[in-house]
Amino acid sequence: MKQSILLKSLFVFCLFTVLVACEQQKKKVINFPTTDLSAENLIPKPLKITPTNSAFGLDKNTSIHTSENASGFPEVGQFLAEKIKWQTNLDIPVNTTESPTLERIIFINQSDSTEISSKEGYDLYITQDSVILNAKTAEGAFRGVQTIRQIIPEISNDTLAENKMWLIPTGKITDSPNFEYRGSMLDVARHFFSVEDVKKYIDILAYYKINTLHLHLTDDQGWRIEIKSWPKLTEVGGRSEVGGGEGGFYTQEDYKEIVAYAAKHYITIVPEVDMPGHTNAASVAYPFLNGNGKTPKIYTGTQVGFSTFDTRKDTVYAFIDDVVREISAITPGPYFHAGGDESHVTKKKDFIYFVSKIDKIVKKHGKRMIGWDEIVHADIDTTAIAQFWANEKNAKLAVEKGLKVILSPGKKAYLDMKYDTLSKHGLDWAGLIPVDTGYIWTPERYVQGINKEHILGVEAPLWSETISNIDELEYLAFPRMIGYSELSWSKEENRDWENYKIRLGNQAPYLDKMDVKYYPSPLIEWKKSKYTYKTIDKD
Ligand code: ACM
Repeated sequence: MKQSILLKSLFVFCLFTVLVACEQQKKKVINFPTTDLSAENLIPKPLKITPTNSAFGLDKNTSIHTSENASGFPEVGQFLAEKIKWQTNLDIPVNTTESPTLERIIFINQSDSTEISSKEGYDLYITQDSVILNAKTAEGAFRGVQTIRQIIPEISNDTLAENKMWLIPTGKITDSPNFEYRGSMLDVARHFFSVEDVKKYIDILAYYKINTLHLHLTDDQGWRIEIKSWPKLTEVGGRSEVGGGEGGFYTQEDYKEIVAYAAKHYITIVPEVDMPGHTNAASVAYPFLNGNGKTPKIYTGTQVGFSTFDTRKDTVYAFIDDVVREISAITPGPYFHAGGDESHVTKKKDFIYFVSKIDKIVKKHGKRMIGWDEIVHADIDTTAIAQFWANEKNAKLAVEKGLKVILSPGKKAYLDMKYDTLSKHGLDWAGLIPVDTGYIWTPERYVQGINKEHILGVEAPLWSETISNIDELEYLAFPRMIGYSELSWSKEENRDWENYKIRLGNQAPYLDKMDVKYYPSPLIEWKKSKYTYKTIDKD
């Protein structure tokens, strides 16, 4: 009898303990709010989003695990951890072998799944317990990491006082770029921009999945890249800029630093040496280059089309060979941009002769030549690429000759055009480009006869005649550059101004946190943080 009472008491006690534990457990359960992954402020818009309406709670008990033997994957995991720290102040371990308390995991896996259609493509599966990012290459994983960054809310769920959670909507994203070349160009010749400025620009471009940065390194007003075999190019030619400022230049070490920083962000640097026109600064340093027997004066104005190399002198080609060789040796990317625009004082037959020779020099140093659309008149290899900026006939001729085309139409994609008549900086020769005009066009159908298969991609150039510091650079580049990321990454059916402008307005917290001095266009409703998830006790 006594024993039975004892057993009964023990049973009741156990039951009580279990119930109390359950009750405590219940208190911890979060009723995640209904979420909608397809309504997130993702730019560029991914190929396909399937929401499952719950949430993954990013918190201090989350860890990142990557394929450890797949090249670049651990570094991509580390990159994500650094950015999570920046966004949330959470210290998330990467590939840790300890921490048994970890509850939620972000996996970044190398995968040969046939669902992933390109080297930059990725799949993202988000459940309550895990985020699984699959990609064929580290580059694809890096693009997917930008998607994860963009769906981490600004504000944590602070109602769980002892454990802040950043709630990420659950669902599946399948993504892949529409164009393989998605770029911006920075003119560091008219005004010089420091290595730090370029790095900051790269940070923001990477967040929007841009993969190419074209540096316009030389022009009439300045030569900005050290060439060891021709030192006066920078000693003399690097000391001027538009408006009479002191100019500047990148040593080869500086340039390598930019290239390495870009590579860490899966961005390819395309170096441009503009020739045979736009070469006054080179000829100030080495007067034999212009062939007219005169030493030109330093030029600090903004006119174009008055300078040329002598196209019939062997020594000029020996010089160019050195320049292309030295720059190519420190440029891992496949391209060398040889300019070719606005050579108004070069005779047409000389221009054709010149560009054909440069194409061969570029190829000899292992690179593929890109040139502004005027180059199509020369006898060049079909591996060359024409960058359409002004003349549709040139772009069509490029396609007829079998060349790929990069689209940078001045009227739509020139970041140096003013937004409106009141713009503080910028030019207007190609027209005003408000934020909607910059976005509302279709690269695949912009030039009749130039279709998707002819287009390598889209690039938005930022010429610097009217800007001389990073704040002014950001004023012209942002927010328009964000739209070019969507025009080049997202499929045509996923691009829509009315939807885009809402997502763009919601980039303000990121841009503000990055201290980007973007132009707050009145066409956009610029929003601050709006995430206010609540914890509800389960009953
Ligand atoms: C250019 O804008 N001169 C290519």
